[in-house]
Amino acid sequence: MSQLQNDTFLRALLRKPTDYTPLWLMRQAGRYLPEYRATRERAGSFLDLCKNTELATEVTLQPLERYPLDAAILFSDILTVPHAMGLGLYFAEGEGPKFERPLRDETAIKALAVPDMHALQYVFDAVSSIRKALNGRVPLIGFSGSPFTLACYMVEGGGSDTFSKIKTLMYERPTLLHHILAINAEAVTQYLNAQIEAGAQAVQIFDSWGGALAYGKYQEFSLRYMQQIIAGLKREHDGRKVPVIVFTKGGGLWLEDIAATGCDAIGLDWTVDLADARRRVGDKVALQGNLDPNALFAGPAAIEAETARLLASYGAGSGHVFNLGHGISQFTPPEHVTALVEAVHRHSRPYHIA
Ligand code: CP3
Repeated sequence: MSQLQNDTFLRALLRKPTDYTPLWLMRQAGRYLPEYRATRERAGSFLDLCKNTELATEVTLQPLERYPLDAAILFSDILTVPHAMGLGLYFAEGEGPKFERPLRDETAIKALAVPDMHALQYVFDAVSSIRKALNGRVPLIGFSGSPFTLACYMVEGGGSDTFSKIKTLMYERPTLLHHILAINAEAVTQYLNAQIEAGAQAVQIFDSWGGALAYGKYQEFSLRYMQQIIAGLKREHDGRKVPVIVFTKGGGLWLEDIAATGCDAIGLDWTVDLADARRRVGDKVALQGNLDPNALFAGPAAIEAETARLLASYGAGSGHVFNLGHGISQFTPPEHVTALVEAVHRHSRPYHIA
């Protein structure tokens, strides 16, 4: 494998000194880029795009051709895992992801099993292909959903505003939900380890819906399973540490608990104050975040001011990876991202003078 030319992102995750604050953006490859929309059109469906090694590689690299980002993220989706479990993922136009066979009764839940990882070989092939195409430019991030976030889609059958089905299950039949979560945790552990074997140099667990849980329930139904996954991950590959990032959207109240899972970094949404988060986690973990994605609708001057404010809030020293507090909106003007990347790289240097 070729030598890594820019390891700023990996160093920041391990809280080692860097020259500036590295950044990448959640959903950096996506519909806000016209070149993504063109490739997506050629691929046919979103799933076809994920399964096409060449095209998945192409869209992963698109944001890096435009912006000097410090990491690439595998182009795929968190719902590939339940799809491999036989739930039948599809995307209804304008409605987001859906499952043909959601987990609607005890029989379906009892029949759920950890999928054969061969069914996800297309993801591992994409990882190897992207690593080759990157040729050491920046590190590649692998990812998966958290067991709870996957379970939300598997039980609800798609996105949800109320989480009524999964919460009914959690309060009425907690053992059944624990059964799903245990299978998801084992599947995600195998899935992330296979991504690491294929060349992922850091991994992120997206717990997009953990923040919808009540105090206590978050710890029991989401955090505990992420902790189990982290304990089962390969933390070193090819002579390098493979850092693990946990992103619970809405998890700002539980940072101490998240820091205790054994992860290397915590992803923060935009509701959290970086200075306060840093005080709370101390030198246990690095922090990633947390610009409001909708700040990118504003013009370059406002983006620069908000970026400077966040960098000042984190303050001097390493251990901060700049990112958005959630995925970038498809309505973001691409040139506003240029302003953000420049602002982070330029304004962060004074905070890294030893
Ligand atoms: O960050 C990246 O650039 C890597 C690719 C990536 C995608 N999805 C591509 C995608 C990643 C990391 C994800 C994760 C993901 N997928 C999450 C966790 C992060 C989060 O946003 O909370 C979730 C909950 C999903 C499930 C999912 N997939 C949803 C809700 C949707 C519809 C979203 C929308 O904007 O309509 C998807 C589809 C999806 N995944 C798209 C992309 C680029 C849009 C599909 C298209 O091209 O039509």
